[in-house]
Formats: sequence, structure tokens, C-alpha cells
Amino acid sequence: MSHPIATVFPPLPAGGLPLSDLQKKVIALKKAKDAIILAHNYQCEDIQGVADFVGDSLGLAYKAAAAQNSTILFCGVHFMAETAKIVNPTRRVLLPDMEAGCSLADSCPAEKLAAVKAANPKLYVVAYINCSAAVKALSDVICTSGNASKIVNRVPADRPILFIPDQNLGRWVAAKTGRAMQLWPGNCYAHVQFTPAALLRTKAAYPQAPIVAHPECTEAVRDLADMVCSTELMVDWCRRQENDTIIITTEAGMIHRLQREVPHKTFIAAPTDRCACNECKFMKMNTLQKVHDCLLNGTPEVIMPESIRVAAEVPLRRMLEWSA
Ligand code: 13P
Ligand code: SF4
Repeated sequence: MSHPIATVFPPLPAGGLPLSDLQKKVIALKKAKDAIILAHNYQCEDIQGVADFVGDSLGLAYKAAAAQNSTILFCGVHFMAETAKIVNPTRRVLLPDMEAGCSLADSCPAEKLAAVKAANPKLYVVAYINCSAAVKALSDVICTSGNASKIVNRVPADRPILFIPDQNLGRWVAAKTGRAMQLWPGNCYAHVQFTPAALLRTKAAYPQAPIVAHPECTEAVRDLADMVCSTELMVDWCRRQENDTIIITTEAGMIHRLQREVPHKTFIAAPTDRCACNECKFMKMNTLQKVHDCLLNGTPEVIMPESIRVAAEVPLRRMLEWSA
């Protein structure tokens, strides 16, 4: 069987990409509607190009909390937009496609977590931010891939930790902190498609290129990487690499951000065994047209029961405080 060849992203032309007519319309509309556009690093290139801020889950949570505009248009997945609403409830939060979910959030229903907690009342629940507001409301503290070790290190030593819902991130954090943790059996359907075999084939084609991987990858893939970190930390790490070519083992949208911030390097999107690059189907549900329509119509809007919002805000605020 022949395997997919990795996708190569050479540097963009000097001055970057020109704005399309639709992008210009969106920029005019966001001013007219007093909206701020926050976009995750995995969003499409044309969406990143109209955003006021592009970043990882942690950076986006801080930006959402500080947003002054009456509308936050969140280009990412549902749990990220919910997070924005939880920390800044007086703003209207829009999400271009309400179906933009996350396999990690799906793996951990609130009722299941409530049952585990009821059976083990001493558990301290550390929840990766990739979970629903109802799950956050049942958790003691939230973390992201950018601050997980810092957060776990602050958990009282006498409390057994339940880490939800990503077992791969949890295993990585347990190794880094030396803290034993019970792991929820969830994973990111996209990141677990990276395999050691596909990564080794890519490395054989680009032997000088260092490898960076997201902690949602399996341990066997992480072990092959020169660096494992959140999407935000990848930007700085790539900037500091002497080599001009770098293998990026995460969702391929990340490369749009890297191309803008680290303009002279070539990025190789690590393939899976089946596909030349790896995209999250949820992240890609947002399109520039949907961003435009969402701004124009003020819908779909993220709404949640106030009791859940208030309860979910406690562990989120704890994270923002512990990680400052
Ligand atoms: P980051 O916080 O590292 O951007 O990760 C978010 C995510 O969903 C990764 O799949
Ligand atoms: Fe969720 Fe994975 Fe998509 Fe991130 S890449 S939003 S963890 S499904």
C-alpha cells in the first residue's frame, strides 16, 4: 500500500496574502456590529486573516475575559465559545456553526462524571478545557495544554486527581509532574490518527527537520518529537529553531498561523497513515461565509443556563488565576 506524502507549506510571498472581497466585507461588518473576532490556531487561513486575535485555548480564554466589544464572534469549537460566555457573560457570544463540537468534549458527559464523583467524593477533578460547560461546572480546576503542568502542580497533595477527558494529555502531564492521576478514557479523534510509522516516514524524507507535536498525540508519537507543547508555544519554538524546515504534528490549520509569524521557514504538515495532512472536521465547520452571515444576523448565539455558567466560572477563574 502506498502511503500519503506529507504536505509541504513553503514561505508565503513577501507581504502575505491579499484580502479577498469577502474578507473586506467581514472586516467592515465587525466594526459596524462592534464585534471582536477571536480565532483558534486551527481555523482556516481566510478566517485567521480577519481575526483580531488568533491563539490557543488559553490565550483565547484570557482575550475573551478582557473583551470590551458588545459581541464576541468566536471562531473555534463549541466548548471554546462557551468558555468565552462563561468568563464574559454580559457580551453576546456568537459561533458561526453550532455543530462545531469536539470528540474530547463528547467523551465526557456530565452525568457520567457526576456518578464517578458521587462514588469517589475525595477526587479532585482537573478538567482539560475541551469539555462542556456542564462538565466544567462539576470540576475543581480547568487547564489547557499550555498550562496543564502548572495547574496540576498546584493541586493539594492530599487529594487524588481525576484528569478528564484526554488520557493522552493526562499521561503526558502525569509524567512531567510526577503526580499520579486517574485518567478519563477520552481522546482527540484527529490527533490520535498520527502514527509513529507516518512520522518516521516523514522524518526519513526530511532528516534535518525537527519535529514538534501536540500533547493530544499518543505517547508513541510524542516520544518521536523534539518538542511537545500547546499550539501557542509552537510558534515561539519554531521561531527559535536553526533549521529552516520543521515537521508540525498537529491540526494543519496551525501552519497558517506559523506562516504569518515565522515567515521564512518551510512547514511540513505531518501526515497520518491515510491522509497527507490532518484536519479537525469540527474546526473546519466554520467558514468565512458563515462568519459573515453570523455577524450580519447575530446568530447562532451561545446561550446556557445561568446556574451552569456560574458554577463553571469558578474552576475557570481558578485556572486564570493559577496560570497568570
Ligand atoms: P491548544 O490549546 O494547544 O490550542 O489546543 C486546543 C485543541 O483543541 C487541540 O486539539
Ligand atoms: Fe477537539 Fe481534537 Fe478538534 Fe481539538 S482537534 S477541537 S481536541 S476534536
